[in-house]
Amino acid sequence: MPSFLGILLFFLFPISFSLPQRSSWPNALVLRVTKDASTLQYVTIINQRTPLVPVTFVVDLGGRYLWVDCDSGYISSSYRSAHCNSAQCSLANAAKGCKSCFAMPRPGCNNNTCVLFSENAFVGMVSPGDLGEDILALQSTNGLSPGPVASVPRFLFSCAQTFLIKGLASSVNGMVGLGRSRIAFPEQLSATFKFSRKFALCLPPSTMSSGVMFFGDGPYGLLPGIDVSKLLSYTPLIVNPISTAKVSYKGERSYEYFIGVKSIRINGKKVSFNPSLLSINKEGIGGTKISTVNPYTVLETSIYKAVTMSFLKEAENVTRVAPVAPFGVCFSPMNTRPTIPVIDLVMQSKEIFWRIFETNSVVQVTDTVACLGIVDGGSNARTSIVIGGYQLEDNLLQFDLVGSRLGFSSSLLLRETSCGNFNFTSIA
Ligand SMILES: *[C@@H]1O[C@H](CO)[C@@H](O)[C@H](O)[C@H]1NC(C)=O
Ligand SMILES: *[C@@H]1O[C@H](CO)[C@@H](O)[C@H](O)[C@H]1NC(C)=O
Ligand SMILES: *[C@@H]1O[C@H](CO)[C@@H](O)[C@H](O)[C@H]1NC(C)=O
Repeated sequence: MPSFLGILLFFLFPISFSLPQRSSWPNALVLRVTKDASTLQYVTIINQRTPLVPVTFVVDLGGRYLWVDCDSGYISSSYRSAHCNSAQCSLANAAKGCKSCFAMPRPGCNNNTCVLFSENAFVGMVSPGDLGEDILALQSTNGLSPGPVASVPRFLFSCAQTFLIKGLASSVNGMVGLGRSRIAFPEQLSATFKFSRKFALCLPPSTMSSGVMFFGDGPYGLLPGIDVSKLLSYTPLIVNPISTAKVSYKGERSYEYFIGVKSIRINGKKVSFNPSLLSINKEGIGGTKISTVNPYTVLETSIYKAVTMSFLKEAENVTRVAPVAPFGVCFSPMNTRPTIPVIDLVMQSKEIFWRIFETNSVVQVTDTVACLGIVDGGSNARTSIVIGGYQLEDNLLQFDLVGSRLGFSSSLLLRETSCGNFNFTSIA
């Protein structure tokens, strides 16, 4: 018996050493997110590789996975390319077949690996690259402040060529995709640490403060001690059967997050436009999605016209002035402070709506000119409503992939907190 136990321990130990201790497994992880002044992109820093180095990524809510420019000094002793026809390649839905590379082996140049196409949604370009894995590390959290660093030893991502970082904020090395794919960033974290498939986004309104992203369930604590996960209204998440990405395979489903906006109200009055624009048809056209790629909400032309007309009708004490691109409706306050109407995105019932207040609807362009922060998407817009970054700022959004629903808070400023209020001071 003792010898049998000895053999058993001998076999068990090397295995248990490679896994994190169950008791120290985090329930949630946290990342800081900032806004880049020149591109208006949302940026985060994630530690990767051996030795660990901070790598800067643009956040793409609808992106499929994490990709990195591997051609600009990717050095790591723990990088491994995925083997073609392996479980990783099929999990990633990579192109079939085996890829070779006739240069010095390095991340991005391997034999017998599979290829993924990384996408830069800002410029609509793709780059083929090797699927690989490496260590990635981020801070755990109890929801109130950051805790010990948790690492994912074999995080799957795609290598891209340097040209793909075109149009991204300076010093960015890739994009982190939070979309609906098996190897998206949130999915891999949930799978590694066995926490629930939920994540939350709280984007900062300016380049002066930072926002926060949580992976895992709440509490999501913001100073002064408010658990914002308790302040949410919910609406179902919808899958668009056809991708709306600038570049996609024919007939491929969408990796983005769609919701069912049923109508728009301005100061409580229903805005009139063709309601069929709000549903998604067989070709994947229509409906409402949420995007961190668009800095401002984009509306299909007829909705745009109806919304801006009602907005101007309801706004008091403003004088319309020449528009400042990309906006079409700009105004100057008159002698008194203007009164800006509230815009409601009404969901599955009249009582469930996402209310957009002045801080998320009006963009101050100069000292004397302000604009409605919504842009005209044209009459051929694939998606009728794209809720963009400016409208998401200082709102908490929880993507609950277990319940297939979106939790939204509306402006946190009315709850006396903001996305800049996560306490990033670690417990020593
Ligand atoms: C791939 O295999 C070919 C043929 O054996 C070899 O010439 C080449 O150097 C290899 N490339 C890498 C990156 O190992
Ligand atoms: C708009 O301005 C007029 C005249 O200055 C003033 O009487 C009125 O109260 C203002 N309305 C609002 C809503 O501030
Ligand atoms: C932030 O968290 C740290 C560590 O838990 C704590 O010492 C500090 O008091 C917190 N700050 C505030 C403003 O609550």
